[in-house]
Amino acid sequence: MKGHAVAAPAALTLADYADLARRGMDAAVWDFLAGGAGEERTLAANLAAFGRVRLLPRVLTGAGRPVTMTRILGRDWAAPVGIAPLAYHTMADPEGETATARAAGRAGLPLIVSTFAGRTLEDVAAAAAGAPLWLQVYCFRDRDVTRRLVERAERAGFEALVLTADAPHLGRRLRDLRNGFRLPAGIGPANLEGAGFASPRDHSLMEFDPGLDWSAVAWLRSVSSLPVLVKGVLTAADACRAVEAGAAGVVVSNHGGRQLDGAVATLDALPEITAALAGACPVLLDGGVRRGVDVLAALALGADAVLLGRPVLDGLAVDGASGVARVLDILVGELTDAMSLSGLGSVADATPGLVRLATGTA
Ligand code: FNR
Repeated sequence: MKGHAVAAPAALTLADYADLARRGMDAAVWDFLAGGAGEERTLAANLAAFGRVRLLPRVLTGAGRPVTMTRILGRDWAAPVGIAPLAYHTMADPEGETATARAAGRAGLPLIVSTFAGRTLEDVAAAAAGAPLWLQVYCFRDRDVTRRLVERAERAGFEALVLTADAPHLGRRLRDLRNGFRLPAGIGPANLEGAGFASPRDHSLMEFDPGLDWSAVAWLRSVSSLPVLVKGVLTAADACRAVEAGAAGVVVSNHGGRQLDGAVATLDALPEITAALAGACPVLLDGGVRRGVDVLAALALGADAVLLGRPVLDGLAVDGASGVARVLDILVGELTDAMSLSGLGSVADATPGLVRLATGTA
């Protein structure tokens, strides 16, 4: 599945890594990783929203070399970039999440481990070398399954829980339905017992709790001492509701366009949310972040940090832990360049005045 035959140094951008990954991968696996729900309108909208950003750099600010360091929930991140929860890193590389964790540790950036990780939480923690680890939580109908997972994560040193709120079940992903996608042999959840995982969507229809409500935040806080973030928020009303419910942060996300097709692009949803929250909790954003200027735009519009999804799996598929490290390095390097060329000395200097959103096709 790896594209080792192609020289990685030729890859200068995250798009280059996507291209290399696609060429080295089984087509149905690529469709599972890269695809979105329905007509993939939201998948495209996430990217298009960043494409509409025009920056208004300031000159002669005396900013010097920019500092990307960011503090989130009491922990220093080397840059305002984390790794989004992604199922089955083992599909991209046999080492899976342990390789990703090594790269995160090297970069000083956090990793959010999926409920559907392909490696055990304990192995991932051992590999992470100090990188902040958070556990992404899907709430199952059988709450005991979720509770056991959360307890294990806390024992293994994970520092926060991320409740995925936009998935009463997995979205209608047409590429997977057309391919009759099943998980490849040997790929499965390392932290869950049972069977029936081969079709992720069918499994979710059977096992996810479709009636989940805001009390899930309090429930998670009752079974763990870890802070709980809510992922999948797209409206100001839900962001405020999350804080009322006891959330320590929100992730503005449409699941990378894999859930409700037609949902708003995350960058478009962001300004109303950050305005409504007015600093009440950290705001993270994911969906379509592919370049350093995208990170900068999200920060300027009020995000505290972004999460990176598919490009991490691209890096992993191309060159294992080194590929992930390189993907993170490219993004943070581009961010540093963009900050410098915009006259910013620190991430706190990124304010709304930096961004003008172009209309139409401009
Ligand atoms: C995801 N995502 C996801 N989200 C989640 O909460 N739990 C999960 O297990 C997964 N698994 C998963 C697998 C794959 C292959 C993809 C592409 C995505 C969604 C993910 O956390 C994130 O919201 C998006 O991937 C961000 O968008 P980009 O960066 O991929 O455009």
